[in-house]
Amino acid sequence: MGGRFLKWPLWLYGAALYHASSNQFANAQANDTSWQKYVRAPASNIVKPKAILDEYTSGQVVNAESLVTGGNTTVLTRQGADAAVPTVVLDFGQNVVGLLEINFASSTNVSDGFPGLKLSFSESLEFLTDRSDFTRSDNAGQGSGNPPKITSGTDQIAVKNEPFTWLNQWGCEFGSQVCSDGLHGFRYVKIELDALPDDAPYTSSYGEVAVNSVSLQWSGYLGTPDSYTGWFECSDEDLTQWWFDGAYTTEMCTDVFHDNDTEPRGAASASLLGKWVLHDGAKRDRDPYMGDLAVAALTSYLTHDIPEAARNVMEDLAQHQRDDGWIPPASINNYALPLFDYPLWWVACSWDHVMYTGNLSYISAYYPTLLSVLDTYYAAHTDAATSLLARPSGYGDYAFIPRDGSAAYYSALYVLALHRAADLADLVSAPSDAARWRDRAATISAGVLANLWDADAGAFFDRAGYSAHAQDGNSLAVLAGIATGNYSASALAYLEAATARPYGHAFYDAGGEELGVGYSDRAYPFVTYFEAAARFGSGLADSAVALLRSTYGNMAAGDPGVTMWEGVGANGSKYEGAFTSLAHAWSTGVTPLLTTYVLGVRPLKPGFREWTVEPLPSADLTWAKGEVPTPYGPLAVQWERSGDDGHLVLTVVPPPGTNGTMVVPVSQESLSAWADDGTRLDGEVVDGSVVFRIEGGREYIVR
Ligand SMILES: *[C@@H]1O[C@H](CO)[C@@H](O)[C@H](O)[C@H]1NC(C)=O
Ligand SMILES: *[C@@H]1O[C@H](CO)[C@@H](O)[C@H](O)[C@H]1NC(C)=O
Ligand SMILES: *[C@@H]1O[C@H](CO)[C@@H](O)[C@H](O)[C@H]1NC(C)=O
Ligand SMILES: *[C@@H]1O[C@H](CO)[C@@H](O)[C@H](O)[C@H]1NC(C)=O
Ligand SMILES: *[C@@H]1O[C@H](CO)[C@@H](O)[C@H](O)[C@H]1NC(C)=O
Ligand SMILES: *[C@@H]1O[C@H](CO)[C@@H](O)[C@H](O)[C@H]1NC(C)=O
Ligand SMILES: *[C@@H]1O[C@H](CO)[C@@H](O)[C@H](O)[C@H]1NC(C)=O
Ligand SMILES: *[C@@H]1O[C@H](CO)[C@@H](O)[C@H](O)[C@H]1NC(C)=O
Repeated sequence: MGGRFLKWPLWLYGAALYHASSNQFANAQANDTSWQKYVRAPASNIVKPKAILDEYTSGQVVNAESLVTGGNTTVLTRQGADAAVPTVVLDFGQNVVGLLEINFASSTNVSDGFPGLKLSFSESLEFLTDRSDFTRSDNAGQGSGNPPKITSGTDQIAVKNEPFTWLNQWGCEFGSQVCSDGLHGFRYVKIELDALPDDAPYTSSYGEVAVNSVSLQWSGYLGTPDSYTGWFECSDEDLTQWWFDGAYTTEMCTDVFHDNDTEPRGAASASLLGKWVLHDGAKRDRDPYMGDLAVAALTSYLTHDIPEAARNVMEDLAQHQRDDGWIPPASINNYALPLFDYPLWWVACSWDHVMYTGNLSYISAYYPTLLSVLDTYYAAHTDAATSLLARPSGYGDYAFIPRDGSAAYYSALYVLALHRAADLADLVSAPSDAARWRDRAATISAGVLANLWDADAGAFFDRAGYSAHAQDGNSLAVLAGIATGNYSASALAYLEAATARPYGHAFYDAGGEELGVGYSDRAYPFVTYFEAAARFGSGLADSAVALLRSTYGNMAAGDPGVTMWEGVGANGSKYEGAFTSLAHAWSTGVTPLLTTYVLGVRPLKPGFREWTVEPLPSADLTWAKGEVPTPYGPLAVQWERSGDDGHLVLTVVPPPGTNGTMVVPVSQESLSAWADDGTRLDGEVVDGSVVFRIEGGREYIVR
């Protein structure tokens, strides 16, 4: 690391100047509550509907609005087949997750059976029909020992004549009749006075039902303002709101693992029961998947104090490691779903866990798992001729992309994982492992450059012998340090030119016969995280922020708003129709990206014992502030632009017991830097930046 220390003339040094300008200290640690207005969580675990959608109300319904305002009962009545089905649609105002609860005042039979209610849930109005957009039974009834299919798309209630409270629990009220699927992730619920013919004689499509109230028992992590351990705010209100929307999406997916509300295809694992986990989606699939944690766990660490939600998942999957070193991607399919890339995410995410939480016991306990993943499993799936990883047939990846063999993404992710594994090896004092893995990373990097670089396009091919270029391989090649300098600039320029759509960047520049229809229209916010990180890290903050605006702007402007979708299809649509999960924690990359690059805070040592603060904002952002939680206490940062040149005035308040660097562009070399005890700081010019080394426990400013 070359560099030179800046020396200030002696006369500039001293407490007098510091005191004269001390009002310039931003006091970044003041009790700032301005961010709290962006918080999306409901105020309590009991959530009330926000509106009745009048245009959907039909049949005989009295006082529908009381379901929102309270103060009276709502009465649905249907005397016979000639009358329309009484229908009310409730809007909870935003996507929510949990068990619906209905308090009934009374009912009256008009024919055989209790009057029946039929419920259809949906995350968006587009897919609100006479059945739920997705319900647990849609995936149920497969395989022995797994839960049966108990509904065909709607939840049923037999409304008793006396007052009672119904809670939407999974199961059937009468044998295999009058059944309900239990938990739903949804924004809208359609309530109809109607019964299934199959539910006779217990329920009837006729009668009168009086409802006192409808509410939701929230099941996720309740992320109220007092539960936030980190926050972010900047001059662009949309970006700020999306930071909190990402937090909320992840809160919806953070839950205790139950066997009655999760993925019914062989996922109900005894070793996960009762533990906090990060599910992939709120409405489906509701199983913690390893790859998803690459983004979801970062959002979780940076927003709330629940690191065990990620750790429980990683520990459980490690405990299910196969003899050949492979780690299952999730509990689904009794831990046997064959994905090739997810064991590498286990490695990469273990590094995140150690760096963000400081838990070294975790990596000491699972270091043998790490060794076996890298030295047994992936060593056995390396093509000796090219040094590239080769995906065996029968295996898939995060998007089940049909690409057996040596896709750039697999080897690029391998290099990233090897570098991170080498860091972890250093921490557990295993220098020979660290050296071996760094050597291997260099060999594979050379193999990627030699075999997969397409000089004509100026980007990495997805696979040798095929014409497509993928967002995942190119982005990870930059992040892993395989492509540096003009190679990374070229690959990122290619992605922008070839894949930019109004709703983000498509994950492929081509599809068709080689891959599948729609590949060059589809955008995964999950993979976009890696491209945006690569852009920020390559000095392309403007294009990184533009990518966030197109990706998240499209989702925020759509229905349900607020929460982030699993995937995006042509024209910014929901890529798998009603089946698409619209609250998917792997799509919350905007949250860690804004904290890491716009606020600029990254850990350098476990638990932020050492850190760096290097804001890399786009030119149009004028200020940002926030806090990052660390085991030592919050690390507070604030910056604003100043003067004709718009240079950054940066204030940092790191926690005691830590040290790190404040980094600003070299164009700011002539600026002054101070600690709040009046000490003037010397900066060092390193690779085009000015670096100030500071210790936690006081406030610092560069201006
Ligand atoms: C911040 O809040 C804490 C606890 O409420 C209080 O003790 C402290 O004085 C406040 N600090 C400032 C700068 O307002
Ligand atoms: C409740 O609704 C009934 C029937 O519509 C109406 O007669 C009554 O005045 C309402 N009570 C209140 C308190 O609004
Ligand atoms: C309404 O129907 C249910 C189910 O058949 C029956 O159990 C109940 O007794 C009936 N109520 C009245 C008041 O007849
Ligand atoms: C699942 O089981 C738990 C424990 O019995 C119960 O509290 C919860 O309500 C059930 N959830 C559903 C969706 O049935
Ligand atoms: C750290 O990880 C270990 C092993 O995975 C776990 O048992 C322990 O509870 C964790 N410690 C903290 C403070 O979270
Ligand atoms: C990068 O620069 C080197 C040295 O000038 C050159 O050999 C190489 O072709 C360049 N690569 C790209 C992708 O422009
Ligand atoms: C996207 O828009 C085009 C042009 O309007 C239309 O032909 C196509 O069907 C749309 N695709 C989707 C999935 O909405
Ligand atoms: C933190 O302090 C240690 C011990 O003085 C030093 O080795 C290290 O370089 C410092 N880290 C940074 C980022 O300044």
